[in-house]
Amino acid sequence: MVNLYKNKFYAVFGNPINHSKSPDIHNFFYKLYSLDYKYIKICASKNFFLKDILSFFNKGGKGANITLPFKEKIFSLCNEITKRAQISGSINTLKKFDNGNILGDNTDGIGFLSDLLFHNIVKKKFNLLIIGAGGAAKGVIYPLLQFGCNIFLTNRTFERAKILSNKFKNFGNIESITLRNLSNMRFNLIINATSSGISNEVPLIPCNIINKKTICYDMFYGDKNTVFMNFCKSYGAKKIYSGIGMLIHQAAHSFFLWNNIFPDIKKTVNFLSKK
Ligand code: ATR
Repeated sequence: MVNLYKNKFYAVFGNPINHSKSPDIHNFFYKLYSLDYKYIKICASKNFFLKDILSFFNKGGKGANITLPFKEKIFSLCNEITKRAQISGSINTLKKFDNGNILGDNTDGIGFLSDLLFHNIVKKKFNLLIIGAGGAAKGVIYPLLQFGCNIFLTNRTFERAKILSNKFKNFGNIESITLRNLSNMRFNLIINATSSGISNEVPLIPCNIINKKTICYDMFYGDKNTVFMNFCKSYGAKKIYSGIGMLIHQAAHSFFLWNNIFPDIKKTVNFLSKK
């Protein structure tokens, strides 16, 4: 049984949560900076997750990450919410201040942009294609527009892409486009933000939009290359990335919010690749 009072405590809440790599990443950060903290995973109840999270903080928890399916449902827990969390409509990081107030933030979007910068695969004015119009897409659009990218948003259900692009149109260049109209278009970077990888499927994009110069990024990740990565590779893409880097970077930004230290990414990537 973990002693909640001896160490500074952090946790990730989700349901399911078994698969989460966040404890590995955060506990590695603590080791790297010799911090006597602990980060655990907690499977929150689908109906009483607010109570579960509050009880963690009441027992001395200092900060938490929130994952599916709770990210959009914990706004009422927070005394303050950052602009980037408000705009994305979801919270993945909570910080408890000494006065008891709880701050809600979102580090997914900035984590994604940081990973693109880390790999040197994004530039201002780049034309990006984002496939998908669910939570994953919603979480990354704002920082990409702020950075100065032009976004084309497509989705199996086109209406959802239209609604989402309208929501963000005041923040930069974004337009929705049907899957069919993508044919023969050219993009610097194609991002799969759908959940198709869960069922081992690939979104039905025309394959002529991929060539050897197209950079392809799947926000999904697994132990091996994802089906989307393999699909892009089979049509000639040379630079293909999975979402593991995004996961590490969003964790790094949460860690920074909690401890004011931005952790060493290269060492973390190296550590995870050996696990
Ligand atoms: P989340 O909770 O992750 O936001 P969601 O709102 O269901 O889940 O969004 C999942 C996204 O993945 C949607 O864009 C979905 O497309 P639809 O809006 O048409 O449902 C997309 N998606 C899921 N499975 C897909 C598949 N096999 N092919 C293409 N798109 C898929």
